[in-house]
Amino acid sequence: MSFNIAIDGPAGAGKSTIAKELAKELGFIYVDTGAMYRAMALYFIKNKIDNKNEEEIARACKCVDITIRYENGEQQVFLNGENVNGSIRNEEVGNMASVTSGYSQVRTKLVELQQQLAKTENVVMDGRDIGTVVLPNAQIKIYLTASVETRAKRRYEELREKGQDCDLKQIEEDIEKRDYQDIHRENSPLKQAEDAVLIDSSHLSIEEVVGEIKKMIRISAKDERR
Ligand code: DC
Repeated sequence: MSFNIAIDGPAGAGKSTIAKELAKELGFIYVDTGAMYRAMALYFIKNKIDNKNEEEIARACKCVDITIRYENGEQQVFLNGENVNGSIRNEEVGNMASVTSGYSQVRTKLVELQQQLAKTENVVMDGRDIGTVVLPNAQIKIYLTASVETRAKRRYEELREKGQDCDLKQIEEDIEKRDYQDIHRENSPLKQAEDAVLIDSSHLSIEEVVGEIKKMIRISAKDERR
């Protein structure tokens, strides 16, 4: 049986950094589900799909094929056969993904792919609904959060590092808006699973969070042996 670690939480809480590091240390596969929603969003943007029109979204979903592959341990997302990793990490795609990920047609397609991956591989998977919907039986569930200010600052620094021009206040507003959308949507809203452990990373380093989760894994393994 595969070992699954689910990490959920709001945008910018540090999920991907933590999940990547954890996967590397454990020799697991890191599955970034946000990238899959972003790839779908990119399709909707490119094809000028109206994100308020559910019928149009449903029709478009039938034309989208998302697959993932690993190159040197890095997840690569393919949209209809094209590697789109370089085009999905911007605010336009993130904002579109936040809206379109609310549609059940979009979610059904991607949840299936995510569950398939976790069935055969040991994974660290991050997203919004991993512990609640995608992997309800995951051995370890984390709900990772941080204050809005901390998250906005982290995203600002990340974008600046990539050479993108950005405004801290605007990012903060985008994060608040995205939080609201992710928490209040009807389908698979962002929420802490009942059996997930809450970690607030506002004042913790990456090493401290990773260390905390590894401690949980050791305890869970010990319980299993009893
Ligand atoms: O984690 P991210 O910023 O790359 O995610 C982009 C959007 O995708 C986010 O606003 C919510 C959505 N998402 C989701 O609904 N479910 C997931 N499992 C992952 C992301």
